[in-house]
Order: sequence, then C-alpha cells, then structure tokens
Amino acid sequence: MKVIGICGSPRKGNCEMLLRTALDAAKSAGAETDLVLLREMHIGYCDGCATCETGGEREGECHVADDMQPIYTKLERADAILLASPNYYSNVSGLMKSFMDRMLVFYSRRKEKLRGKRGGLIAVGGENGKPAIDAMKVLFSANDIVLVGTVDASASGADDVAKDAKALEEAAELGLKIIK
Ligand SMILES: Cc1cc2nc3c(=O)[nH]c(=O)nc-3n(C[C@H](O)[C@H](O)[C@H](O)COP(=O)(O)O)c2cc1C
Repeated sequence: MKVIGICGSPRKGNCEMLLRTALDAAKSAGAETDLVLLREMHIGYCDGCATCETGGEREGECHVADDMQPIYTKLERADAILLASPNYYSNVSGLMKSFMDRMLVFYSRRKEKLRGKRGGLIAVGGENGKPAIDAMKVLFSANDIVLVGTVDASASGADDVAKDAKALEEAAELGLKIIK
C-alpha cells in the first residue's frame, strides 16, 4: 500500500503533527508513505481556463507548469490519500483550497484515476476542524474517493495538539484504517 499525505497548513503545526502520526502508523504496519507539505511547494491558482475539461487533446491535463504536476503523478500512484488542513474562517486554508481547485483535472477526464482509492481527512481548528473536513469531503466525493475516517481536533498554538492524546490516537488509528 502506498499512502500519500498532503498537508495544507502554512506552518509546522498541528495538522502536520497529526498527519505525520497517521503516516507513521501506516508505515509501521508496512505501508510506503509520502508526505507533501504544500507550504514548501510552488502551487499556483486554478485560473479557470477549463482546458482540463474541454481542451481536446489537453483534456485531463493542467497547463500550469508548477509543483502540482508531480503531485498529480503521486496521487495516481497512491492507494490511499490523507489530507490535512487547518480550519481558516470555517473553511480550508488557502494552500489547501489552491490544491483542491487544481484537482479539477481529475474531476474531468481523469476521474477514474482516483476512483475507489481510500481517503482520510484531518482538520484542526481553534474551536474545531469540522468546516475544513466538510470542504475536503466535497473533493473526495467528486472523485469517488472512499472516505474511511476523519480526525477533527481542537488546538490553537502550533504544537498544542501534542498534548491531545485522543487526537493523536485517532490519527494513528486513521493511519492504520486507511491501509486495511
Ligand atoms: C487566518 C486564520 C483563520 C482562522 N479561522 C479559524 C476559524 O474560523 N475557526 C477555528 O476554529 N479556528 C480558526 N483558526 C485557528 C486555526 O485553525 C488553529 O490555530 C489551528 O491549530 C491551525 O492549525 P495548524 O497548527 O496546523 O496550522 C484560524 C487561524 C488563522 C491563522
């Protein structure tokens, strides 16, 4: 099993900690894991050209030449996908939103490339992560990714979630569940 984790926090904080916990659990159970920190990538906005939907020979491709291109390949090769985002104004972070918008290539011609993969969602908010989880669920359902579990944590300071044994345990459980 290959598991890819995509982290949408602009800081080394709670989402990354929970995502690493999930990936470590999957790895210790024999999975191959890969962590993508969106903050270290150059990922431009979807410019709405819709070429990926209607572009003839370019259908199913994105013309924006940036770090999203190798991520498309990694996602296609993965058996399971974990997404993590902070709750920002009752939504995902801008980094995660840019990533999600650029996933339109899969919704058009390449939807079948993600169909049936296993998916897990992690979100952290000062109050809760639910709105970010709900937003990311839309991406999964649009691409027929099977949601196997979510972790919704509450933390404010960058490493506050380290004191939340329940959230860490849930993240580890998610990492194991996603490879079953
Ligand atoms: C711009 C911004 C907007 C935020 N909006 C919300 C919000 O609407 N609801 C909430 O519960 N927390 C909100 N937060 C708090 C973060 O979700 C919280 O600090 C979380 O731990 C960040 O996760 P991270 O450490 O992985 O970056 C916001 C934080 C920032 C910086």
